[in-house]
Amino acid sequence: MSDNVKWTVPRIRALKGKGKIVSLTAYDFSTARLVDEAGIHLVLVGDSLAMTMLGYENTLPVTMNEMLLHTAAVARGVKNGLVVADMPFLSYQVSIEQALMNAGRFVKEAGADAVKIEGGSSRAPTVRALVENGIPVLGHIGLLPQSINAMGGFKVQGKTAEDAQRILDDAKAVEDAGAFAMVLEGLPAALAGEISAAVSVPTIGIGAGANCDGQILVVHDLLGLYGDFKPKFVKRYANLGPEVRKALAEYRKEVEGGTFPGPEHSY
Ligand code: KIV
Repeated sequence: MSDNVKWTVPRIRALKGKGKIVSLTAYDFSTARLVDEAGIHLVLVGDSLAMTMLGYENTLPVTMNEMLLHTAAVARGVKNGLVVADMPFLSYQVSIEQALMNAGRFVKEAGADAVKIEGGSSRAPTVRALVENGIPVLGHIGLLPQSINAMGGFKVQGKTAEDAQRILDDAKAVEDAGAFAMVLEGLPAALAGEISAAVSVPTIGIGAGANCDGQILVVHDLLGLYGDFKPKFVKRYANLGPEVRKALAEYRKEVEGGTFPGPEHSY
């Protein structure tokens, strides 16, 4: 349950070494409200909404306007969680000026508390510029869904000593640039543990084992709402897909059979 105190960036940072950061995605007002009522510390309006909400195959097509719309809906539903907006593909890569303008729109127009951007050492100057202008940044290293074409698909990263060192360097670069925390995605648990011990800011894992400072999941995966998609790192805490199907079939049957609406639903 929520303690009814707003989760701010300093409060999230201060959890490092004291308690686990619990994070989930949300993309709409009603789900955001439920997530917030459950006391989730950090609510990410992930660009994964390209797939879960908009039906694209990956996160690349989602636009700034779509992300702004969903972020504003989530911000209206969340009272206590820290609302982080995911910056979509090409909204921050072209120039630092454009990154600043677009990140600012999430805060100014949509009510986000912070933004997330993917990338390590090469993205550090962008992270620094946003932070220096008062926009908190959640980093994201390891498996980068916006770079799946370069990575050859959704593949666990950091499996060779060389790649592990590159990702460790990415973590330090993102920390040095001022990120208040970072997502570690698709990494061997031992490497994620090493990174978590090496940086002073919290790490939030997805497919990165138990040694991170917190965990994040896509809410549709946790609730069984995204078809049969269930990679190894996902735990389904509910399987709502079949429940929804059952309810919809019953509604159809009752309308067709004339038993809904009954007198109790009629004026
Ligand atoms: O878009 C997303 O949902 C994410 C998280 C799962 C980390 O980036």
